[in-house]
Amino acid sequence: MHVDILLGLQWGDEGKGKIIDYLAPQYDIIARFQGGPNAGHTLVINGEKTVLHTVPSGILQDRPLNVIGNGVVIDPVTLKKEIENITSKGIDVNKKLFISKKAHLILPTHKILDAASEAAKGQEKIGSTLRGISPTYMDKTGRNGLRIGDVVSPSFNSIYQRIKEKHLHLLKIYDYEFSLEEIENVWLESIEFLKSLNLIDSEYFLNNELAKGKTILAEGAQGTMLDIDFGTYPFVTSSNTITSGACNGLGIAPTKVKEVIGIAKAYCTRVGSGPFPTELLNETGELIRKIGGEFGATTGRPRRCGWIDLPALKYAIMINGVTQIAMTKADVLNDFETIEACTDYSINNTVTREIPYDLANTVINPVYHKLCGWKTDLRKFSNYDDLPETFLGYLSFVEEYLATEVTMISTGPERERLVFKKELQVV
Ligand code: GDP
Ligand code: IMO
Ligand code: MG
Repeated sequence: MHVDILLGLQWGDEGKGKIIDYLAPQYDIIARFQGGPNAGHTLVINGEKTVLHTVPSGILQDRPLNVIGNGVVIDPVTLKKEIENITSKGIDVNKKLFISKKAHLILPTHKILDAASEAAKGQEKIGSTLRGISPTYMDKTGRNGLRIGDVVSPSFNSIYQRIKEKHLHLLKIYDYEFSLEEIENVWLESIEFLKSLNLIDSEYFLNNELAKGKTILAEGAQGTMLDIDFGTYPFVTSSNTITSGACNGLGIAPTKVKEVIGIAKAYCTRVGSGPFPTELLNETGELIRKIGGEFGATTGRPRRCGWIDLPALKYAIMINGVTQIAMTKADVLNDFETIEACTDYSINNTVTREIPYDLANTVINPVYHKLCGWKTDLRKFSNYDDLPETFLGYLSFVEEYLATEVTMISTGPERERLVFKKELQVV
């Protein structure tokens, strides 16, 4: 019937996994459309935490089928570990997980190339998760990649050897020491495992299901400000993390898309290098990191923290055509006297609400609006109308600025901690 898209509006880690897990029973299919094991989507169910990297965040719910789309890049080693972990929870993964034959494979040498390239950049490094994302997408667009569907081809091994030789040749330009044998053996074992999974023509599968009246929730990874075209280039990832990425990454026409749910934290974080205008390099930033547990779900790195950046959010809403916002982690600010929200960028004494072309090389002085903190434990609320006035004041300030409604408010990592202004109607 139709597709809804759920994606991050900031620099990733907005809490996409949590919201998707909650919404999943309302959909027939959850389909991840881009990125790879650079993502870490956290689900907390009955106190138990699960971090998903490649598998869609609907896997722990009964109803939906889960599809890894053609736009995703897959490391079979990570995928095997993830599936083993999910299986240990008593879930029959093979009944619920389908993988596009057109998704690209991350090779062991892609990961080495990622690490070598980052090391060579020194101070200029992107802060990549070192999962081989950039070299794999480079080989995809360079038309040299290996795809999931190739694993059953009689020429798989010869194609793999050819690409590997090319990578080994490329690695000679870096002064980088590595050892391939061990990781290659583990990778080859995982390729055998991959053959036992449901490898499908996912564009046909998804469109046939839509034709039968089924509903799909497309799951984004990373966030809009990490998008290869519209993010803070070059400090971005290598895929389109935005709405259009869902069409490319699943083979779904834009005319099938209904809701675009944008996820944003009540503040802002970033992991890795690159511009972050509202970053707080002070005690407040440290406090947010501590209370919010702001450490990467994939790499464990501390996340940089700062106030909510409304010009950047407005930009993300424009690029994605966001129809509603889910705000996460408002509870992290429970005890703050004052909350600040960046409303404008001051650049060379000129005030603007537009994101400058070269954010990485522009000195920005954020202009802040101060709001009264709510000083209440938001975790105890389950009805929108019971939320404290001060918090509702913060929400309406954000909604007015962004001209978009905040329909869901997450007040804790656990599945059930979600307050709705409007229930999502998936019909
Ligand atoms: P994702 O990559 O967008 O799925 O987000 P991550 O899982 O990387 O990071 C979000 C973190 O915040 C995880 O540790 C979640 O368990 C946690 N989380 C999600 N929503 C909330 C919330 O509303 N409040 C709090 N305190 N934590 C949350
Ligand atoms: P989820 O889906 C936050 C960041 C990295 C680095 C840059 C490029 O969990 O929100 P890459 O490995 O893609 O070459 O890294 O992008 N990054 C993320 N930051 N959340 C993510 O995913 C991220 N995936 C990549 O830290 O700055
Ligand atoms: Mg994450």
